[in-house]
Amino acid sequence: MHAHVILAAGQGTRMKSRLPKVLHPLLGKPMLHYALEAALALKPEKLVVVVGHGGEVVAEALKGYPVEVAWQKEQLGTAHALLQAESLLKGFPGPFLVTQGDTPLLTPETLKALLERVAAGAGMALLTVELADPTGYGRILREGEKVLANVEEKDAAPEVKAIREVNAGAYAFDGFLFQALREVKNENAAREYYLPDLIAIYRAHGKRVEAVRGVAEEALGVNTREELARVEGVLLKRLRAEWMGKGVRMILPETIYLEPSVELAPDVTLWPGVVLKGKTRIGEGCEVGAYAVLEDTVLEPGAKVQAHTVAQGAHLHGGASAGPFARLRPGAVLMEEVHVGNFVEVKNSLLHKGVKAGHLAYLGDAEVGAGTNIGAGVITANYDGKRKHKTEIGKKAFIGSNSVLVAPVRVGDRALVGAGSVITQDVPEGALAVARERQKNLEGYALRKLGEG
Ligand code: UD1
Ligand code: CA
Repeated sequence: MHAHVILAAGQGTRMKSRLPKVLHPLLGKPMLHYALEAALALKPEKLVVVVGHGGEVVAEALKGYPVEVAWQKEQLGTAHALLQAESLLKGFPGPFLVTQGDTPLLTPETLKALLERVAAGAGMALLTVELADPTGYGRILREGEKVLANVEEKDAAPEVKAIREVNAGAYAFDGFLFQALREVKNENAAREYYLPDLIAIYRAHGKRVEAVRGVAEEALGVNTREELARVEGVLLKRLRAEWMGKGVRMILPETIYLEPSVELAPDVTLWPGVVLKGKTRIGEGCEVGAYAVLEDTVLEPGAKVQAHTVAQGAHLHGGASAGPFARLRPGAVLMEEVHVGNFVEVKNSLLHKGVKAGHLAYLGDAEVGAGTNIGAGVITANYDGKRKHKTEIGKKAFIGSNSVLVAPVRVGDRALVGAGSVITQDVPEGALAVARERQKNLEGYALRKLGEG
């Protein structure tokens, strides 16, 4: 049984952003959610998040998580932040885990190792890592295996700056924590109350402090945009490796972006530059062409998306294909064997089995019957300036190129619409509708104009 506190009140000045640092997204999720999920994996008795800078928005992002929020009104340092959680943890005997909202790669296994040290009698345990470039992190002072203190970058003399073992910002404490916190002073370069000062304070009380040595990657803290990109790169690499392990083929994997919420089946092929977001689900054997962007889109087994297609909230059934350069918007449903080709936009429309719309069309708020052919340049004019209306097209109909179907309108089964028509009235089943000026040929007119006739 333990309690967990996540510190997330800092401003994140170095991000140079209006958005609070801990809400910057990593693969579509706020950075803070990674810290939350690592914490929740160990089922803490209580989970407290300390918010402050941009606190209202941060608290909003915590909705739905079993957490309590503590406020740090002024950002006076990490020790001061932790102290703000005290009243919510009154009477809780410990142990306590403390992590930072800006350290998203920490794993539950590491947190567990910290807790185990405290269970085994240490007063405090902290995660340390060796970094090739320790700049910006707190340096760990040791005497052999004994951890003596932490020195922040701002307070470090050159020989201390040369130390490459750093504080990763993850700690476990026994029940002495809040008493010890009161002893932290702000006599340092930043005039802040430093949480890692607890190392020296615990030791001064004769308590054992232990360091758990972790892998460098896990400790990556996000203070700058560059570090955000680096962490996102690590998460992406892990995710790609996981899916390739499950049978997904990625061509130039380092160019592929995907989010943790995406689901892929074995034998899916992803070409370079593919972007997969949200609740996208791709079935067995499907292929996604180069530079396609799919968000909340479902590809049933056997569906295919070709290069440069952009889809959001679309559903493609087996044998359906879209692209290259197709645009599928929310509610686009392509049943079996449907083909939507280049520069065709489909929104909130159901295309039944075998519909073909090969080129340059707009289908919005439409239902198109099985086997119908939509010619190049066909437009469903669904908007009258005030409201959206529906276009219904029957089975095996043929809509000639460059026709406009002014909704609400219905074209019956097997009907034919002549190219270039503007259809404002229903077309009966099996009829031919032509709604344009009949062609006139004026014999010799052009030659006379040229003075040759
Ligand atoms: C901190 C550690 C440093 C460690 C590094 C690891 C301190 C003093 N330093 O430095 O030893 O190597 O993390 O990533 O702890 N926060 C608050 N309230 C505050 C200040 C900060 O809630 O008043 C929160 C921030 O939102 C952030 C975390 O605490 O999530 C760490 O703060 P930050 O300013 O990023 O500390 P670092 O300089 O990175
Ligand atoms: Ca930090």
